[in-house]
Amino acid sequence: MSNIRIELTANPKQKPQGPLHFGRYFTDHMFLMNYDKGEGWHDARIVPYGPFPLDPAAMCLHYGQEVFEGMKAYLTPDGTIQLFRPDENFKRLNCSNERICIPQVDEELCLEGLKKLIEIDKDWMPTEKETSLYIRPFIIATDAHLGVSPGEHYLFAVIVSPVAAYYETGLDPVKIYVEKSYTRAVKGGTGMAKTGGNYAASLIAQVEAYEEGFSQALWLDGVEKKYVEEVGTMNVFFVVDDEVITPALNGSILSGITRKSSIDILKSWGVKVTERRIAIDEIVEFHKQGRLKEMFGTGTAAVISPVGMLRYDGHDMPIGDGTTGALTQKLYDALTGIQWGTAEDTFGWTVPCCKL
Ligand code: COI
Repeated sequence: MSNIRIELTANPKQKPQGPLHFGRYFTDHMFLMNYDKGEGWHDARIVPYGPFPLDPAAMCLHYGQEVFEGMKAYLTPDGTIQLFRPDENFKRLNCSNERICIPQVDEELCLEGLKKLIEIDKDWMPTEKETSLYIRPFIIATDAHLGVSPGEHYLFAVIVSPVAAYYETGLDPVKIYVEKSYTRAVKGGTGMAKTGGNYAASLIAQVEAYEEGFSQALWLDGVEKKYVEEVGTMNVFFVVDDEVITPALNGSILSGITRKSSIDILKSWGVKVTERRIAIDEIVEFHKQGRLKEMFGTGTAAVISPVGMLRYDGHDMPIGDGTTGALTQKLYDALTGIQWGTAEDTFGWTVPCCKL
């Protein structure tokens, strides 16, 4: 057991009363650690949630040296609060760290601090259907220094937010707009890392998609603008005839943990799942031929989100009958069954944290 200092708040906050809009409310505590060159990561502590001092010259503010993760804690029917594949998140955090020149973290210590934090803030666990605690670990470079170089000082933090569904439409199918002009990421860039810059680069397309009445933009590859990549907040899957196709991880797509879990679940049912390069023209063709049966996105925040409509090059492609497809629904039920503990976790993905 490592040494994590704990300071409890003297002023617990009011819990939110109304709908749990995604990422608006935060629990009473946060888990922090500092890194200083020569000393490594140190001073792991759980302290009251609140602003932390940051020098205006802090490098993360100027050059975006930061990484983050997204994970969730779920309440099961027997009152256990459990995490879903947290080891995968901390492993991916270290992959992002490597790309953004941030020192590696001790994955076990991160998990231990996270479990402790959830236990301390467990009365923030929402109990309504389809709600959870969204967990946001992140690391920022804090050096007060305007030269462009990797930092020598970092802050690791984990904050926690009670949430309901990510999209305003809840679990109803979302409308997705295929982005033709802007680029999110290219191979060799940072697309496979979970770093804020990727999301900043995506905002303009998201704003334009919203203006057209769509929920998100679907990115194409940055070189030929031909191959489907991801939706920024989700990986994407197409059900074509009886096969499920998803873009292969190519260096510019995020390696989603929900993506990976969905592939494993589908394969365990004997469904053919193919990870490959998919041209958007193929999708248009499949749609014309009536072979594009379903489309869905996967992500920690988005869970399994059915896509009801895809717009490409001014053409609207309604998917199926616009409602959630049968395979999408079955996958949603299977995955969330494991996460919320209403189905047996035959994969061994869940990690108990504490009792409510
Ligand atoms: C997640 O699904 O956890 C994400 O990080 C996506 C997003 C809300 C930025």
